[in-house]
Amino acid sequence: MKLFLDTGDVDEVRRAAELGVIDGVTTNPTLIAKAGKGFRETVLAICAACPGGAISAEVVATDYDTMLKEALEIASWHDQIVVKVPLIEPGVRLVSTLSERGIRTNVTLVFSVSQALLAAKAGATYISNFVGRVDDVSGDGMEAVAATVEMVESYGFESEVLVASVRHPQHVVQAMAARAHVATMPYSVIAQLFKHPLTDIGLHRFLDDWNKAGLSIFSTVTA
Ligand code: G3P
Repeated sequence: MKLFLDTGDVDEVRRAAELGVIDGVTTNPTLIAKAGKGFRETVLAICAACPGGAISAEVVATDYDTMLKEALEIASWHDQIVVKVPLIEPGVRLVSTLSERGIRTNVTLVFSVSQALLAAKAGATYISNFVGRVDDVSGDGMEAVAATVEMVESYGFESEVLVASVRHPQHVVQAMAARAHVATMPYSVIAQLFKHPLTDIGLHRFLDDWNKAGLSIFSTVTA
């Protein structure tokens, strides 16, 4: 499964990219606004911080003509960019147009498998099924993810199912169980993926025993 970082914070992208486990970055208007710098400047800095990664940058218009202009502008900035488009009627039409032009797209704000079907038929590169926001209103966000994976595979669509709005490591585990292609998450969730109490306990024991034995990797003393 691919892991994307969901952020507009370039420093977070640099830290995550150094781990060697990140395949891309997703941004959205809220995350870009939070970054506090220009949209193009932020997106290009993210591209540089995650070389070769798929970097999603979202249009903000809601009429087709303006969305198309915005999409072509954004796509022109860098070949790593994936144009992010909301799942609304002009958005699906835009995805069809961009797909015909060979421009990669990430269809966002997807909550149902019927919405995902439209994105897949339009040629979306990624379909962003939001899970956390469904859970936040006592639903089961992962249900639509599993149905979307089943749909994409059953009908042979090339779209990749991207689990978005991830709140905790269990969402990542569930995304794998649903056989999703990608999960995007905040840096805080990436950090939580490392954590297990038995790892900490075990490492402490290893080092304690090593130190008690007075051993050194660089020691010149032969046994
Ligand atoms: O950026 C897309 C998505 O991951 C954002 O979800 O619910 O954390 O705002 P959320």
